[in-house]
Amino acid sequence: MDFKGLMNGRLILVTGGAGFIGSHLVDALMANGATVRVIDNLSSGTLDNIRSWIGNSSFEFIKGDLLNKKDLERATEKCEVIFHLAANPEVRIGSSTPEIHFEQNVVATYRLLEALRRSGMPDLFVFTSSSTVYGDASEIPTPEDYGPLKPISIYGASKLASEALISSFASTYGFRAIICRLANIIGPRSRHGVIYDFIEKLKSNPWELEILGDGTQRKSYLYVDDFVSALSTIIEKTHGKVEIFNIGSEDWVDVKTIAEIVTEEMHLKEVSFRFTGGVDGGRGWKGDVKYMLLSIEKLKSLGWKPRLNSAEAIRKTARKILEKEHKFSSKSNFTL
Ligand SMILES: NC(=O)c1ccc[n+]([C@@H]2O[C@H](COP(=O)([O-])OP(=O)(O)OC[C@H]3O[C@@H](n4cnc5c(N)ncnc54)[C@H](O)[C@@H]3O)[C@@H](O)[C@H]2O)c1
Repeated sequence: MDFKGLMNGRLILVTGGAGFIGSHLVDALMANGATVRVIDNLSSGTLDNIRSWIGNSSFEFIKGDLLNKKDLERATEKCEVIFHLAANPEVRIGSSTPEIHFEQNVVATYRLLEALRRSGMPDLFVFTSSSTVYGDASEIPTPEDYGPLKPISIYGASKLASEALISSFASTYGFRAIICRLANIIGPRSRHGVIYDFIEKLKSNPWELEILGDGTQRKSYLYVDDFVSALSTIIEKTHGKVEIFNIGSEDWVDVKTIAEIVTEEMHLKEVSFRFTGGVDGGRGWKGDVKYMLLSIEKLKSLGWKPRLNSAEAIRKTARKILEKEHKFSSKSNFTL
């Protein structure tokens, strides 16, 4: 997790820096002496995630929206490195409200790029794309050059469209872009995704856990610290105009195994699992990719490898979330 020497005192903008992944990235950048500005509308992020940096002279927080021109002008001024993480990451909502992903992910990315074109292009633009751009890939583990790309969710489409915009702006206006296609990134501060959902459900009913789908969905999970170290490695060791990297772990686990790990970590012994059966052959929801494992050979060729496998990352995440809840549990009657 070493960004030392990469930033050289340049002003770094992190969009969505008060969110789950963004705040861990901010921690790593600040720990390495960077000068960081965050723009976040706090729609899903929270100030608690970045509270330790507020008041630090090398840190600035702008409560602002990427769809607001004035906020963007303020945020992009003099920035030389951009980490663009702000987005609506809830794949599930796409089937009922597709315009959310179009506006928050595609239009917001376009507006950010346009604001940069006016204020002066950065040296480096890093984007958190997603494994969902591959859709139901027939090649597993799926490499970066797999194609044609046929996303099955509006979210996946919005990430692919954003990748295309970033690539074309990089070529047309001259900056370096790194596009990261992430597997499921997990860890403390995450407020969405399967582990968080299971913990919330089990807190309200410790005897029965509803599991969306048929339980056989199988995906790859990466601990957030490993994500940050992967990103640092890519920035340090690559020099291409537009680089695309998968970031994930080397294995995958099914959703039933996740349920077992979470119930173990909550010390719940008599939980019955109730599978909803799901849609379209056992998927959790419309647009859910049922089997996802990314090839990380390209990333490993740079000398990086994940410290934790999927099951270890899931267990550590559940434990960290529960530890934090435990600190506040005196207010509730839920016991761990
Ligand atoms: N967590 C994962 O497993 C995963 C996997 C693939 C890709 N990603 C991508 O990584 C990025 C971060 O995801 P996360 O899991 O930390 O989610 P998150 O919801 O915690 O973070 C997103 C942040 O962006 C902010 N935001 C949203 N819309 C905004 C807007 N219009 N203007 C300003 N701020 C806005 C939110 O308040 C939040 O703080 C997203 O781009 C997501 O699509 C995440």
